[in-house]
Amino acid sequence: MILEVKNISKYFTIERGVFKAEAGLVKALDGVSFSVNEYDTLGIVGESGSGKTTLAKIIIDLIPATSGEVVFAPELIQDLRKDVQIVFQNPYNSLNPKMRISEILSEPLLIHNIVPKPFIKERTLELLRLVGLDEDVLGRFPIEFSGGQRQRICIARALASQPKFIILDEPISSLDLIIQAQMLDLFFELKQRLKLTYIFVSHNLAVVKHIADSVLVMENGRVVEMGNIDEIFYSPKHPYTKALLDAARS
Ligand SMILES: Nc1ncnc2c1ncn2[C@@H]1O[C@H](COP(=O)(O)OP(=O)(O)OP(=O)(O)O)[C@@H](O)[C@H]1O
Ligand SMILES: [Mg+2]
Repeated sequence: MILEVKNISKYFTIERGVFKAEAGLVKALDGVSFSVNEYDTLGIVGESGSGKTTLAKIIIDLIPATSGEVVFAPELIQDLRKDVQIVFQNPYNSLNPKMRISEILSEPLLIHNIVPKPFIKERTLELLRLVGLDEDVLGRFPIEFSGGQRQRICIARALASQPKFIILDEPISSLDLIIQAQMLDLFFELKQRLKLTYIFVSHNLAVVKHIADSVLVMENGRVVEMGNIDEIFYSPKHPYTKALLDAARS
């Protein structure tokens, strides 16, 4: 086991009313527990607002949980910032528009001391090759790329620190169908080649079916069903899972 998530809850306090006197609570996550085995892909599915991104952010320690615990196996994950990476849905927001691709990719190499300075360029080129981009992109800025290319750059950046675990939060939802299929192939190939473990977040069960070994179904901050891919697809137990399956098939 590489990751164990134990009984995580997250409540957001929101201010209401004109004078912001009333405080309301949003239960974004309510007692979520699961584990992930090394080299597996766990799919997390659920409709918008079910708490998927909140969960991803808590796992990588971007935001604190209200209660519960996230435990990475200490023999596998020594440095969370380096060994665990995340790729977000929107490749338009997640790259600094003022940085050239060469800087975007060399920054994490320098921060995490991955290779000695004279080898930065060589390693940057390797990263580009891994995600199927040519070296002529290095001098360009993020705005000069299509959504699919930008997402490849985000993936290359995530791979720079040589992570063991990558959380993909709706990584292909903003792309058109043909590009989505190419990106799924890329994720699969990278996983095999680099021996990665994934959490793949999606609202679409049909997409998750292509890549996940097991699936966790979330509704309103709770896990309603969890199982291997065949159980979820061929004998779903919960009505919410059945509804998601119907949506994916239509
Ligand atoms: N910073 C915040 N402050 C207040 N409420 C928040 C905050 N972040 C998330 N929420 C609320 O928590 C709930 C879960 O949001 P989250 O973004 O995790 O959902 P999601 O499953 O990722 O949705 P989507 O599929 O649309 O990305 C929602 O009700 C959302 O409005
Ligand atoms: Mg989200």
